[in-house]
Amino acid sequence: MNKTLLITGGAGFIGSHVVRLFVNKYPEYHIVNLDALTYAGNLENLKDIENAPNYTFIKADITDAEAMNSLFQQYKFDGVIHLAAESHVDRSITDPNAFINTNVMGTANLLNAARELWKGNYDSKLFYHVSTDEVYGSLGDTGFFLETTPYDPQSPYSASKAASDHIVRAYGNTYGLPFVITNCSNNYGQNQFPEKLIPLFINNIRNNKPLPVYGDGKYTRDWLYVVDHARAIDTVYHNGKQGETYNIGGFNEWQNIELIKLLCEQMDKKLGRAEGESAKLITYVKDRPGHDRRYAIDATKIKNELGWEPSVTFEEGLSITIDWYLANEEWLNHVTSGEYQKYYQKQYS
Ligand code: NAD
Ligand code: DAU
Repeated sequence: MNKTLLITGGAGFIGSHVVRLFVNKYPEYHIVNLDALTYAGNLENLKDIENAPNYTFIKADITDAEAMNSLFQQYKFDGVIHLAAESHVDRSITDPNAFINTNVMGTANLLNAARELWKGNYDSKLFYHVSTDEVYGSLGDTGFFLETTPYDPQSPYSASKAASDHIVRAYGNTYGLPFVITNCSNNYGQNQFPEKLIPLFINNIRNNKPLPVYGDGKYTRDWLYVVDHARAIDTVYHNGKQGETYNIGGFNEWQNIELIKLLCEQMDKKLGRAEGESAKLITYVKDRPGHDRRYAIDATKIKNELGWEPSVTFEEGLSITIDWYLANEEWLNHVTSGEYQKYYQKQYS
């Protein structure tokens, strides 16, 4: 194997799709997946590749600086794709410190460990930081986020991601550390933890539970199928220009309530329910504090410079996603038992 690549957060939603893609597509790379297995990390997501000869899993916490240093020295990573993070906005409102520790301090620990290992010899090395469009703040009715849009994060989650982006850029500027950053819009697809809108609502429809729509339901997000995000990460890792930022998005904006209606329609058909049955579960609830009104990515740069664009339409991706959740009830039941019930009570009671 000619390269050892560290992927952090590989047992989570997006990370597991990235790990699978790299393990299968690059047998010549040794892929090391480092994950603390928090509530959001789940090795069941990677059952199909867990015995691959070019794959290693390490349970470790990126907030442990010493552990990061010794793992970098042991494995001599050539590259890092950093996805490990606390990722749910609602949880950042109730427990901001967890986000600051993991997203800010954890990222700094990885950067320090990379710097110490590479010691200024940056030949074919890369630190790829996976970030979010939320760092740009909230849009009005028009306009898009560009790579040049000034940062204006509004939640503890997005502020912690913005801080980590700045630190990565500062290490590039100050120490010459080779890096690339991508800022992506809302992902959906298989293996997403059912605290996020789409899997939460699929699970509630399946169980005939209320669908808690925050505020007036007219908040807008730009949705991208997770496999397309993983493809974009592959493209940027191999062909992106060092020191650059690329926005990733689907040019696929939906008001929450319109998306929820589409989801209800598709679920009625798939569950053999009468038309309109699932939509009766829609329940407007108290708004999320500081709720960003609209996100929309302009993904022209990655398309023009690197030739990446989404491969599936939203309707197709949503249909594949619903089918996966309905076919994987065991996975859903497993992740929604125990702690999840306590979280749900606290968040929605
Ligand atoms: P996720 O919550 O599903 O997974 C996060 C993973 O990180 C989990 O496996 C968890 O165990 C691991 N982790 C958390 N804290 C850790 C720590 N201290 N040490 C080691 N591992 C730790 O998140 P996701 O939705 O897959 O997001 C992955 C990355 O992509 C995040 O950096 C997120 O900010 C970014 N992102 C997500 C979206 C989205 O829509 N989900 C969009 C754009 C960017
Ligand atoms: O934009 C990228 C970001 O997208 C990522 O960086 C985050 O990690 C990811 O969690 C996501 O953030 P959002 O806050 O946009 O996603 P979420 O699924 O939590 O919410 C999507 C929209 O749905 C948002 O407007 C809030 C609303 N919502 C969400 C939940 C969980 C509801 O109306 N009810 C709910 O119960």
